[in-house]
Amino acid sequence: MGHVDTGKTKLLDCIRGTNVQEGEAGGITQQIGATYFPAENIRERTKELRADVKLKVPGLLVIDTPGHESFTNLRSRGSGLCDIAVLVVDIMHGLEPQTIESLNLLKMRNTKFIVALNKVRFIMVDRLYGWKTCRNAPIEKAMKQQSKYVKIQFETQLVQIITQFKEQGLNTELNNMDKEMRETYRIVPTSAISGEGIPDLLLVLAKLTEKTMVENLTYRNEVQCTVLEVKVIEGLGTTIDVVLVNGMLHEGDQIVGPIVTSIRALLTPHPMNELRVKGTYQNHRAIKGAQGIKITAPGLEHAIAGAALYVVGPHDDLEEVKETAMGDMKSVLSRIDKSGEGVCIQASTLGSLEALLEFLKTPEVNIPVSGISIGTVHKKDVMKASVMLEKKKEFATILAFDVKVTPEAWKLADDLGVKIFMADIIYHLFDQFKGYINNLKE
Ligand code: GTP
Ligand code: MG
Ligand code: NA
Repeated sequence: MGHVDTGKTKLLDCIRGTNVQEGEAGGITQQIGATYFPAENIRERTKELRADVKLKVPGLLVIDTPGHESFTNLRSRGSGLCDIAVLVVDIMHGLEPQTIESLNLLKMRNTKFIVALNKVRFIMVDRLYGWKTCRNAPIEKAMKQQSKYVKIQFETQLVQIITQFKEQGLNTELNNMDKEMRETYRIVPTSAISGEGIPDLLLVLAKLTEKTMVENLTYRNEVQCTVLEVKVIEGLGTTIDVVLVNGMLHEGDQIVGPIVTSIRALLTPHPMNELRVKGTYQNHRAIKGAQGIKITAPGLEHAIAGAALYVVGPHDDLEEVKETAMGDMKSVLSRIDKSGEGVCIQASTLGSLEALLEFLKTPEVNIPVSGISIGTVHKKDVMKASVMLEKKKEFATILAFDVKVTPEAWKLADDLGVKIFMADIIYHLFDQFKGYINNLKE
């Protein structure tokens, strides 16, 4: 977790040997991601520290969350899914608004965390005495290579950031592997670009897991599962990406989320690969949490991202399970403008829809919403938006966030005079809409 652009995704890329961040629209994460780190990969990357990593779990499922202010709901969901967190802070920026927001979410849930003080090499790159790159080295070894000047700059930033944490009521300290640090949170300096400090970060994570998880991580049979995304994959049809936090899923399980269907296939990306990025998959008969899983099943186009996924057990009443599942939707629906006047918004997931609603409600933006929908914009959505033509013409508009528009829908919109704005970055929708309104006024 952390503020926007502190390097959360880049850190994961550095560990995975992937390039997810550069493929993101605007370099911004807009969805929750999930990657499985097998214990042996963690052991391999921490080898140089000659530590004896005895992870008592087969691996760690690492979740990536967005830092942009619009995605409070995804940060909240992400922090709700995790046992341990890495709070990423930019060494030059210190604590920023969403760092503090994340911190409060972690405090609220009493989640243990460590601080990755990222972009260490950034301190100096533009200055006379630059950082000396020591690719993927433990931080102590990398620090030894640096000039006195670099070390002083580092210390100065560190002291400032420790003070900022203190202002938030938290004791933090530079990580020391050999030291028992009970009441303080460990700060691990990292560079996501050249990998310094990554061994330390993984080792601290593994140690924390060893220590706290034995007590806290008790595997439960009860299924706890959240839908992250609903998406069409060539050759697979409509699939859902889920995070299975607890319990077990099997091929053939009847699931509710909120549609009712049966699991056709359980797929996972290969270890060290991001679930939200297209790739090849491994097939499983049954799978145990925690895992990021892609599920194929008939009728998934009606599944809803952000909703919980329930499994109907042999002793469960299907109607009861369905009712529980629908309850999740109500909180979002209750946020639509009661006057019935407003634009229609459409997004790819429940999470991004919530984010868009939240963004449009902020005082600087203040665009009322009369209708919401998830997924591709179809003719029926244009029809729905066209109702506004008689009430308030400028609201006969669809703000389409990260979704497609069918050619038939475009044509109908043209014929009726409904405006459709598309963007894959939230605030671009606002810019387009504002431009349109200003034009109308002129
Ligand atoms: P959001 O998910 O959008 O909140 O951002 P993020 O925290 O995932 O940050 P991201 O990985 O997108 O990185 C943001 C920018 O910082 C990118 O341009 C990265 O290349 C750069 N960056 C990330 N880590 C480092 C680092 O350790 N050093 C330097 N110099 N740049 C970094
Ligand atoms: Mg990111
Ligand atoms: Na970013």
